[in-house]
Amino acid sequence: PRGHAFDSRTGRGPCSPNPCRNDGTCEVLAPTRRGDVFNEYICRCQPGFEGVHCQINVNDCANQPCKNGGRCRDLEGDYTCQCSSPYVGKQCQLRCTSLLGMEGGAIVESQISASSVHYGIMGLQRWGPELARLNNQGIVNAWTSATHDRNPWIQIDMQKKMRLTGIITQGASRMGTAEFIKAFKLSSSLDGQTYAPYRAEGQRRDKVFVGNVDNDSTKTNMFDPPIVAQFIRIIPVVCRRACTLRMELVGCELNVYSNTAGCSEPLGMKSRLISDSQLSASSAHRTWGLDTFTWHPQYARLDKQGKTNAWSPANNNHSEWLQVDLEKTKRISGLITQGAKDFGVVSFVSVFKVAYSNDGENWRVLKDENTGAEKLFQGNVDNNTHKKNMFEPPFYARYVRVLPWEWHERITLRMELLGCEE
Ligand SMILES: *[C@@H]1O[C@H](CO)[C@@H](O)[C@H](O)[C@H]1NC(C)=O
Ligand SMILES: *[C@@H]1O[C@H](CO)[C@@H](O)[C@H](O)[C@H]1NC(C)=O
Ligand SMILES: *[C@@H]1O[C@H](CO)[C@@H](O)[C@H](O)[C@H]1NC(C)=O
Repeated sequence: PRGHAFDSRTGRGPCSPNPCRNDGTCEVLAPTRRGDVFNEYICRCQPGFEGVHCQINVNDCANQPCKNGGRCRDLEGDYTCQCSSPYVGKQCQLRCTSLLGMEGGAIVESQISASSVHYGIMGLQRWGPELARLNNQGIVNAWTSATHDRNPWIQIDMQKKMRLTGIITQGASRMGTAEFIKAFKLSSSLDGQTYAPYRAEGQRRDKVFVGNVDNDSTKTNMFDPPIVAQFIRIIPVVCRRACTLRMELVGCELNVYSNTAGCSEPLGMKSRLISDSQLSASSAHRTWGLDTFTWHPQYARLDKQGKTNAWSPANNNHSEWLQVDLEKTKRISGLITQGAKDFGVVSFVSVFKVAYSNDGENWRVLKDENTGAEKLFQGNVDNNTHKKNMFEPPFYARYVRVLPWEWHERITLRMELLGCEE
Protein backbone atom coordinates (compact mmCIF):
# COMPACT_ATOMS: atom_id res chain seq x y z
CA PRO A 1 0.00 0.00 0.00
CA ARG A 2 1.18 3.51 -0.73
CA GLY A 3 0.09 4.82 2.59
CA HIS A 4 -2.99 6.56 1.21
CA ALA A 5 -5.54 3.83 1.85
CA PHE A 6 -8.08 3.93 4.64
CA ASP A 7 -6.39 3.64 8.01
CA SER A 8 -8.73 1.84 10.39
CA ARG A 9 -6.70 3.03 13.38
CA THR A 10 -7.05 6.78 12.69
CA GLY A 11 -10.35 6.56 10.78
CA ARG A 12 -8.73 8.54 7.99
CA GLY A 13 -8.60 7.73 4.28
CA PRO A 14 -8.93 9.37 0.87
CA CYS A 15 -12.65 9.97 1.47
CA SER A 16 -12.47 10.58 5.17
CA PRO A 17 -12.75 13.42 5.92
CA ASN A 18 -14.79 13.99 2.76
CA PRO A 19 -12.79 16.19 0.35
CA CYS A 20 -15.87 16.83 -1.82
CA ARG A 21 -17.64 20.12 -1.29
CA ASN A 22 -21.31 21.03 -1.53
CA ASP A 23 -22.66 17.64 -0.52
CA GLY A 24 -20.68 15.79 -3.18
CA THR A 25 -20.20 12.06 -2.58
CA CYS A 26 -16.67 10.72 -2.42
CA GLU A 27 -15.76 7.40 -4.00
CA VAL A 28 -12.44 5.68 -3.38
CA LEU A 29 -10.90 4.53 -6.65
CA ALA A 30 -9.52 1.04 -7.05
CA PRO A 31 -5.73 1.21 -7.74
CA THR A 32 -6.21 -0.28 -11.23
CA ARG A 33 -8.56 2.52 -12.17
CA ARG A 34 -6.09 5.20 -11.33
CA GLY A 35 -4.26 5.06 -14.65
CA ASP A 36 -1.48 7.55 -15.15
CA VAL A 37 -3.10 10.28 -13.14
CA PHE A 38 -2.72 9.74 -9.47
CA ASN A 39 -6.25 10.02 -8.09
CA GLU A 40 -7.30 8.21 -4.98
CA TYR A 41 -10.89 9.28 -5.11
CA ILE A 42 -13.47 10.93 -7.27
CA CYS A 43 -16.21 13.33 -6.26
CA ARG A 44 -19.73 12.74 -7.53
CA CYS A 45 -21.36 16.17 -7.47
CA GLN A 46 -24.90 17.14 -6.64
CA PRO A 47 -26.84 18.73 -9.51
CA GLY A 48 -25.75 22.33 -9.91
CA PHE A 49 -22.10 21.73 -8.94
CA GLU A 50 -19.02 20.69 -10.85
CA GLY A 51 -15.24 20.62 -10.58
CA VAL A 52 -12.87 18.02 -9.12
CA HIS A 53 -14.17 18.79 -5.63
CA CYS A 54 -17.63 20.01 -6.67
CA GLN A 55 -16.36 23.42 -5.70
CA ILE A 56 -17.96 25.25 -8.64
CA ASN A 57 -21.58 26.31 -8.28
CA VAL A 58 -22.87 26.07 -11.86
CA ASN A 59 -24.75 29.19 -12.82
CA ASP A 60 -28.21 27.86 -13.62
CA CYS A 61 -29.10 31.30 -14.93
CA ALA A 62 -26.36 31.12 -17.59
CA ASN A 63 -28.76 29.83 -20.25
CA GLN A 64 -31.15 32.68 -19.47
CA PRO A 65 -34.10 30.44 -18.68
CA CYS A 66 -36.40 33.34 -17.73
CA LYS A 67 -38.43 34.55 -20.66
CA ASN A 68 -40.12 37.87 -21.29
CA GLY A 69 -37.84 39.99 -19.16
CA GLY A 70 -38.05 37.81 -16.03
CA ARG A 71 -35.14 38.21 -13.63
CA CYS A 72 -33.23 35.02 -12.86
CA ARG A 73 -31.84 33.98 -9.47
CA ASP A 74 -29.34 31.13 -9.32
CA LEU A 75 -30.04 28.37 -6.81
CA GLU A 76 -28.24 25.13 -6.08
CA GLY A 77 -29.14 22.93 -9.02
CA ASP A 78 -32.08 25.15 -9.92
CA TYR A 79 -33.12 28.72 -10.61
CA THR A 80 -36.11 30.92 -9.98
CA CYS A 81 -37.58 33.61 -12.21
CA GLN A 82 -39.06 36.84 -10.97
CA CYS A 83 -41.53 37.60 -13.73
CA SER A 84 -42.69 41.04 -14.72
CA SER A 85 -46.40 41.45 -15.21
CA PRO A 86 -48.33 40.06 -17.07
CA TYR A 87 -46.07 37.01 -17.36
CA VAL A 88 -46.31 34.08 -14.96
CA GLY A 89 -45.01 30.51 -14.67
CA LYS A 90 -41.69 28.94 -13.79
CA GLN A 91 -39.99 30.61 -16.79
CA CYS A 92 -42.38 33.57 -17.14
CA GLN A 93 -43.53 31.83 -20.32
CA LEU A 94 -47.28 32.31 -19.79
CA ARG A 95 -49.20 35.49 -20.49
CA CYS A 96 -51.88 36.27 -17.94
CA THR A 97 -53.92 38.68 -20.05
CA SER A 98 -57.47 37.38 -20.41
CA LEU A 99 -60.25 39.94 -20.29
CA LEU A 100 -62.24 38.81 -17.28
CA GLY A 101 -65.71 39.74 -18.50
CA MET A 102 -66.90 43.22 -17.60
CA GLU A 103 -67.33 44.04 -21.27
CA GLY A 104 -68.09 40.47 -22.40
CA GLY A 105 -70.60 39.80 -19.64
CA ALA A 106 -68.91 36.83 -17.94
CA ILE A 107 -68.94 38.98 -14.80
CA VAL A 108 -72.67 39.26 -14.03
CA GLU A 109 -74.56 42.12 -12.35
CA SER A 110 -74.66 40.48 -8.95
CA GLN A 111 -70.85 40.41 -8.82
CA ILE A 112 -70.57 44.20 -9.11
CA SER A 113 -71.32 46.51 -6.19
CA ALA A 114 -70.50 50.06 -5.13
CA SER A 115 -70.46 52.38 -2.16
CA SER A 116 -73.21 54.53 -3.70
CA VAL A 117 -75.11 55.27 -6.90
CA HIS A 118 -75.89 58.55 -8.62
CA TYR A 119 -79.50 59.12 -9.71
CA GLY A 120 -79.83 61.69 -12.50
CA ILE A 121 -82.76 63.63 -13.97
CA MET A 122 -85.07 63.75 -10.95
CA GLY A 123 -84.00 60.27 -9.96
CA LEU A 124 -85.00 58.68 -13.24
CA GLN A 125 -81.53 57.75 -14.41
CA ARG A 126 -79.71 55.16 -12.34
CA TRP A 127 -75.92 55.19 -12.90
CA GLY A 128 -75.54 51.81 -11.19
CA PRO A 129 -72.34 49.76 -10.72
CA GLU A 130 -73.64 47.03 -13.07
CA LEU A 131 -73.24 49.57 -15.91
CA ALA A 132 -69.50 50.02 -15.34
CA ARG A 133 -68.62 47.91 -18.39
CA LEU A 134 -65.94 48.94 -20.85
CA ASN A 135 -67.44 50.42 -24.04
CA ASN A 136 -70.97 50.29 -22.61
CA GLN A 137 -73.26 52.34 -24.87
CA GLY A 138 -76.45 54.34 -24.36
CA ILE A 139 -77.43 57.50 -22.56
CA VAL A 140 -76.93 55.98 -19.14
CA ASN A 141 -73.87 53.81 -19.69
CA ALA A 142 -71.53 53.87 -16.66
CA TRP A 143 -71.29 53.84 -12.89
CA THR A 144 -71.26 57.17 -11.08
CA SER A 145 -70.97 57.51 -7.32
CA ALA A 146 -73.43 59.71 -5.42
CA THR A 147 -72.44 63.38 -5.10
CA HIS A 148 -72.39 63.21 -1.29
CA ASP A 149 -70.21 60.05 -1.22
CA ARG A 150 -66.84 61.07 0.22
CA ASN A 151 -65.28 57.63 0.08
CA PRO A 152 -66.56 56.09 -3.12
CA TRP A 153 -65.57 52.64 -4.39
CA ILE A 154 -66.77 50.06 -6.83
CA GLN A 155 -66.09 46.37 -6.27
CA ILE A 156 -65.95 43.22 -8.38
CA ASP A 157 -66.38 39.84 -6.73
CA MET A 158 -64.70 37.31 -9.00
CA GLN A 159 -66.27 34.46 -7.01
CA LYS A 160 -62.93 32.71 -6.58
CA LYS A 161 -59.31 33.64 -6.24
CA MET A 162 -57.97 35.02 -9.49
CA ARG A 163 -54.71 36.56 -10.62
CA LEU A 164 -55.16 40.14 -11.83
CA THR A 165 -52.48 41.73 -13.95
CA GLY A 166 -54.17 44.91 -15.08
CA ILE A 167 -57.19 47.16 -15.40
CA ILE A 168 -58.60 49.16 -18.31
CA THR A 169 -60.62 52.25 -17.36
CA GLN A 170 -62.81 54.61 -19.30
CA GLY A 171 -65.02 57.57 -18.40
CA ALA A 172 -68.39 58.52 -19.92
CA SER A 173 -70.30 61.58 -20.90
CA ARG A 174 -73.42 62.74 -19.13
CA MET A 175 -75.68 65.41 -20.57
CA GLY A 176 -72.92 66.29 -23.05
CA THR A 177 -70.20 66.67 -20.42
CA ALA A 178 -67.21 64.38 -19.90
CA GLU A 179 -66.94 62.73 -16.50
CA PHE A 180 -64.11 60.43 -15.50
CA ILE A 181 -61.73 59.26 -12.79
CA LYS A 182 -58.35 60.97 -13.13
CA ALA A 183 -56.59 59.02 -10.40
CA PHE A 184 -57.49 55.97 -8.36
CA LYS A 185 -56.21 53.44 -5.85
CA LEU A 186 -56.97 49.75 -5.52
CA SER A 187 -57.54 47.42 -2.66
CA SER A 188 -58.17 43.70 -2.70
CA SER A 189 -59.45 40.96 -0.46
CA LEU A 190 -59.46 37.18 -0.31
CA ASP A 191 -62.57 36.93 1.86
CA GLY A 192 -64.55 40.16 1.39
CA GLN A 193 -63.80 41.17 4.99
CA THR A 194 -60.25 42.36 5.22
CA TYR A 195 -58.88 44.50 2.41
CA ALA A 196 -55.27 45.26 1.61
CA PRO A 197 -54.33 48.43 -0.28
CA TYR A 198 -52.32 47.83 -3.44
CA ARG A 199 -48.69 48.90 -3.30
CA ALA A 200 -45.98 48.49 -5.89
CA GLU A 201 -43.09 46.15 -5.09
CA GLY A 202 -41.05 47.50 -2.18
CA GLN A 203 -43.25 50.59 -1.69
CA ARG A 204 -44.81 51.60 1.62
CA ARG A 205 -47.35 53.99 0.13
CA ASP A 206 -50.52 53.01 -1.64
CA LYS A 207 -50.08 53.10 -5.37
CA VAL A 208 -52.00 55.88 -7.12
CA PHE A 209 -52.87 54.93 -10.69
CA VAL A 210 -53.25 57.53 -13.41
CA GLY A 211 -56.72 57.21 -14.90
CA ASN A 212 -58.63 58.88 -17.71
CA VAL A 213 -58.43 62.24 -19.44
CA ASP A 214 -61.67 62.30 -21.40
CA ASN A 215 -65.07 60.67 -21.77
CA ASP A 216 -64.17 57.91 -24.15
CA SER A 217 -60.55 56.85 -24.49
CA THR A 218 -59.34 53.85 -22.52
CA LYS A 219 -56.40 53.82 -20.14
CA THR A 220 -54.59 50.57 -19.32
CA ASN A 221 -52.64 50.12 -16.10
CA MET A 222 -50.69 46.90 -15.43
CA PHE A 223 -50.07 45.55 -11.92
CA ASP A 224 -46.51 44.73 -11.01
CA PRO A 225 -46.71 42.56 -8.96
CA PRO A 226 -50.03 41.02 -9.99
CA ILE A 227 -52.86 40.92 -7.47
CA VAL A 228 -54.16 37.58 -6.26
CA ALA A 229 -57.61 38.07 -4.80
CA GLN A 230 -61.29 37.31 -5.04
CA PHE A 231 -62.50 40.87 -4.47
CA ILE A 232 -61.05 43.96 -6.10
CA ARG A 233 -62.04 47.53 -5.25
CA ILE A 234 -61.39 50.58 -7.38
CA ILE A 235 -61.19 53.65 -5.18
CA PRO A 236 -61.45 56.99 -7.04
CA VAL A 237 -59.03 59.60 -5.70
CA VAL A 238 -59.48 62.47 -8.16
CA CYS A 239 -62.57 62.75 -10.35
CA ARG A 240 -63.47 65.15 -13.13
CA ARG A 241 -67.00 66.47 -12.34
CA ALA A 242 -68.10 63.11 -10.97
CA CYS A 243 -66.59 59.69 -10.33
CA THR A 244 -67.80 57.95 -13.46
CA LEU A 245 -66.36 54.67 -14.67
CA ARG A 246 -66.51 51.99 -17.30
CA MET A 247 -63.87 49.29 -16.95
CA GLU A 248 -62.41 45.86 -17.68
CA LEU A 249 -60.21 43.61 -15.58
CA VAL A 250 -57.20 41.77 -17.05
CA GLY A 251 -55.89 38.53 -15.56
CA CYS A 252 -56.18 34.77 -15.56
CA GLU A 253 -57.33 31.78 -13.57
CA LEU A 254 -54.84 30.82 -10.91
CA ASN A 255 -54.87 27.23 -12.02
CA VAL A 256 -53.93 27.80 -15.66
CA TYR A 257 -50.59 26.56 -14.53
CA SER A 258 -51.20 25.48 -10.98
CA ASN A 259 -53.48 22.51 -11.30
CA THR A 260 -52.06 19.46 -9.56
CA ALA A 261 -50.33 18.25 -12.70
CA GLY A 262 -48.61 21.57 -13.30
CA CYS A 263 -48.18 22.39 -9.64
CA SER A 264 -45.53 20.02 -8.40
CA GLU A 265 -42.33 21.99 -8.58
CA PRO A 266 -39.80 21.47 -5.80
CA LEU A 267 -40.32 24.47 -3.52
CA GLY A 268 -36.66 24.72 -2.58
CA MET A 269 -35.50 22.41 0.23
CA LYS A 270 -32.84 20.89 -2.02
CA SER A 271 -32.14 24.00 -4.10
CA ARG A 272 -32.00 26.19 -0.95
CA LEU A 273 -34.58 28.61 -2.30
CA ILE A 274 -35.96 27.85 1.16
CA SER A 275 -33.21 29.28 3.35
CA ASP A 276 -31.96 27.86 6.66
CA SER A 277 -33.86 30.46 8.65
CA GLN A 278 -37.14 29.18 7.21
CA LEU A 279 -36.59 25.74 8.76
CA SER A 280 -37.24 24.89 12.38
CA ALA A 281 -38.11 21.91 14.52
CA SER A 282 -39.29 20.86 17.95
CA SER A 283 -35.73 19.82 18.86
CA ALA A 284 -32.51 18.42 17.43
CA HIS A 285 -30.62 15.24 18.28
CA ARG A 286 -26.88 15.24 18.98
CA THR A 287 -25.04 12.00 18.34
CA TRP A 288 -22.99 11.11 21.44
CA GLY A 289 -24.14 14.45 22.86
CA LEU A 290 -21.68 16.28 20.60
CA ASP A 291 -22.60 19.66 19.11
CA THR A 292 -20.59 18.83 15.97
CA PHE A 293 -22.96 15.98 15.31
CA THR A 294 -26.21 17.89 15.68
CA TRP A 295 -29.04 16.83 13.37
CA HIS A 296 -30.34 20.34 12.69
CA PRO A 297 -33.68 21.04 11.00
CA GLN A 298 -31.61 22.96 8.43
CA TYR A 299 -30.16 19.60 7.37
CA ALA A 300 -33.55 18.18 6.40
CA ARG A 301 -32.88 18.85 2.73
CA LEU A 302 -33.53 16.13 0.18
CA ASP A 303 -30.31 14.32 -0.83
CA LYS A 304 -28.17 16.16 1.68
CA GLN A 305 -24.82 14.43 2.20
CA GLY A 306 -22.35 14.36 5.04
CA LYS A 307 -21.99 12.67 8.42
CA THR A 308 -24.97 14.44 9.89
CA ASN A 309 -27.16 14.97 6.88
CA ALA A 310 -30.78 15.02 8.05
CA TRP A 311 -33.02 16.32 10.78
CA SER A 312 -33.44 14.16 13.82
CA PRO A 313 -35.17 15.29 17.05
CA ALA A 314 -33.97 14.90 20.61
CA ASN A 315 -36.79 12.52 21.51
CA ASN A 316 -38.53 9.91 19.49
CA ASN A 317 -42.19 10.43 20.22
CA HIS A 318 -45.31 12.11 18.87
CA SER A 319 -44.36 15.58 20.16
CA GLU A 320 -41.73 16.17 17.50
CA TRP A 321 -42.17 18.15 14.30
CA LEU A 322 -40.23 19.68 11.44
CA GLN A 323 -41.48 23.02 10.11
CA VAL A 324 -41.07 24.98 6.88
CA ASP A 325 -42.07 28.65 6.74
CA LEU A 326 -42.59 29.47 3.05
CA GLU A 327 -42.80 33.19 3.94
CA LYS A 328 -45.92 33.55 1.84
CA THR A 329 -48.93 31.45 1.06
CA LYS A 330 -48.23 28.82 -1.55
CA ARG A 331 -50.14 25.96 -3.02
CA ILE A 332 -48.73 22.71 -1.64
CA SER A 333 -49.35 19.59 -3.69
CA GLY A 334 -46.94 17.00 -2.37
CA LEU A 335 -44.00 15.94 -0.23
CA ILE A 336 -40.94 13.80 -0.90
CA THR A 337 -39.35 12.21 2.16
CA GLN A 338 -36.07 10.38 2.65
CA GLY A 339 -34.30 8.76 5.59
CA ALA A 340 -30.57 8.73 6.36
CA LYS A 341 -27.84 6.85 8.18
CA ASP A 342 -26.52 7.86 11.56
CA PHE A 343 -22.99 6.48 11.61
CA GLY A 344 -24.09 3.37 9.76
CA VAL A 345 -27.43 3.01 11.53
CA VAL A 346 -30.28 3.24 9.01
CA SER A 347 -33.10 5.47 10.32
CA PHE A 348 -36.21 6.82 8.71
CA VAL A 349 -39.80 7.90 9.26
CA SER A 350 -42.18 5.21 8.04
CA VAL A 351 -45.50 6.95 8.80
CA PHE A 352 -46.20 10.66 9.27
CA LYS A 353 -48.95 13.26 9.42
CA VAL A 354 -48.90 16.71 7.85
CA ALA A 355 -50.14 19.91 9.45
CA TYR A 356 -50.36 23.40 8.02
CA SER A 357 -51.01 26.93 9.21
CA ASN A 358 -51.25 30.46 7.91
CA ASP A 359 -50.06 32.20 11.08
CA GLY A 360 -47.70 29.64 12.62
CA GLU A 361 -49.99 29.30 15.63
CA ASN A 362 -53.21 27.66 14.61
CA TRP A 363 -52.56 24.33 12.95
CA ARG A 364 -54.72 22.06 10.90
CA VAL A 365 -53.77 18.40 10.42
CA LEU A 366 -54.56 16.99 6.97
CA LYS A 367 -57.56 14.69 7.19
CA ASP A 368 -58.51 11.59 5.28
CA GLU A 369 -61.31 12.70 2.93
CA ASN A 370 -63.34 9.53 3.49
CA THR A 371 -62.97 8.81 7.20
CA GLY A 372 -62.39 12.35 8.50
CA ALA A 373 -59.56 11.01 10.66
CA GLU A 374 -56.10 12.58 10.62
CA LYS A 375 -54.41 11.20 7.54
CA LEU A 376 -51.43 8.87 7.92
CA PHE A 377 -48.95 9.05 5.06
CA GLN A 378 -46.68 6.13 4.23
CA GLY A 379 -43.07 7.24 4.48
CA ASN A 380 -39.75 5.55 3.92
CA VAL A 381 -38.49 2.00 4.08
CA ASP A 382 -34.74 2.56 3.87
CA ASN A 383 -31.98 5.13 4.30
CA ASN A 384 -32.04 6.61 0.84
CA THR A 385 -35.04 6.07 -1.42
CA HIS A 386 -37.28 9.05 -2.21
CA LYS A 387 -40.89 8.46 -1.19
CA LYS A 388 -43.38 10.80 -2.82
CA ASN A 389 -46.85 11.52 -1.44
CA MET A 390 -49.26 13.82 -3.28
CA PHE A 391 -51.94 15.79 -1.46
CA GLU A 392 -55.39 15.38 -3.00
CA PRO A 393 -56.60 18.05 -3.05
CA PRO A 394 -53.60 20.38 -2.67
CA PHE A 395 -53.83 22.98 0.10
CA TYR A 396 -52.78 26.60 0.51
CA ALA A 397 -50.50 27.48 3.39
CA ARG A 398 -47.54 29.50 4.52
CA TYR A 399 -46.36 27.06 7.21
CA VAL A 400 -46.11 23.30 6.79
CA ARG A 401 -45.19 20.75 9.45
CA VAL A 402 -44.29 17.11 9.13
CA LEU A 403 -45.35 15.14 12.22
CA PRO A 404 -43.46 11.82 12.41
CA TRP A 405 -45.78 9.05 13.60
CA GLU A 406 -43.82 5.82 13.16
CA TRP A 407 -40.14 5.35 12.54
CA HIS A 408 -37.27 2.93 12.29
CA GLU A 409 -34.47 3.43 14.86
CA ARG A 410 -34.66 7.25 15.11
CA ILE A 411 -36.93 9.88 13.61
CA THR A 412 -34.73 10.94 10.68
CA LEU A 413 -35.90 13.05 7.82
CA ARG A 414 -34.73 14.69 4.64
CA MET A 415 -37.44 16.12 2.44
CA GLU A 416 -38.70 18.33 -0.37
CA LEU A 417 -42.04 20.12 -0.64
CA LEU A 418 -43.82 20.17 -3.97
CA GLY A 419 -46.19 22.90 -5.10
CA CYS A 420 -46.31 26.26 -6.80
CA GLU A 421 -46.88 29.96 -6.20
CA GLU A 422 -50.36 30.67 -4.78
C1 LIG B 1 -66.56 62.17 -25.95
O1 LIG B 1 -65.63 61.46 -26.78
C2 LIG B 1 -65.93 61.49 -28.14
C3 LIG B 1 -64.95 60.57 -28.84
O2 LIG B 1 -63.64 60.88 -28.47
C4 LIG B 1 -65.90 62.90 -28.64
O3 LIG B 1 -66.22 62.94 -30.01
C5 LIG B 1 -66.88 63.76 -27.84
O4 LIG B 1 -66.79 65.10 -28.20
C6 LIG B 1 -66.65 63.61 -26.35
N1 LIG B 1 -67.74 64.24 -25.63
C7 LIG B 1 -67.55 65.01 -24.61
C8 LIG B 1 -68.76 65.54 -23.95
O5 LIG B 1 -66.43 65.31 -24.19
C1 LIG C 1 -41.85 13.27 24.30
O1 LIG C 1 -40.70 13.28 25.12
C2 LIG C 1 -40.52 14.49 25.84
C3 LIG C 1 -39.22 14.38 26.62
O2 LIG C 1 -39.16 13.17 27.32
C4 LIG C 1 -41.72 14.74 26.76
O3 LIG C 1 -41.56 15.99 27.40
C5 LIG C 1 -42.99 14.75 25.93
O4 LIG C 1 -44.11 14.88 26.77
C6 LIG C 1 -43.08 13.46 25.13
N1 LIG C 1 -44.28 13.50 24.30
C7 LIG C 1 -45.11 12.47 24.16
C8 LIG C 1 -46.29 12.67 23.27
O5 LIG C 1 -44.95 11.42 24.75
C1 LIG D 1 -28.41 2.99 2.15
O1 LIG D 1 -28.71 3.49 0.85
C2 LIG D 1 -27.72 3.24 -0.10
C3 LIG D 1 -28.10 3.94 -1.37
O2 LIG D 1 -29.38 3.57 -1.80
C4 LIG D 1 -27.57 1.74 -0.30
O3 LIG D 1 -26.56 1.50 -1.27
C5 LIG D 1 -27.21 1.12 1.02
O4 LIG D 1 -27.17 -0.28 0.88
C6 LIG D 1 -28.16 1.51 2.12
N1 LIG D 1 -27.60 1.08 3.37
C7 LIG D 1 -28.23 0.25 4.19
C8 LIG D 1 -27.48 -0.14 5.39
O5 LIG D 1 -29.35 -0.15 3.94
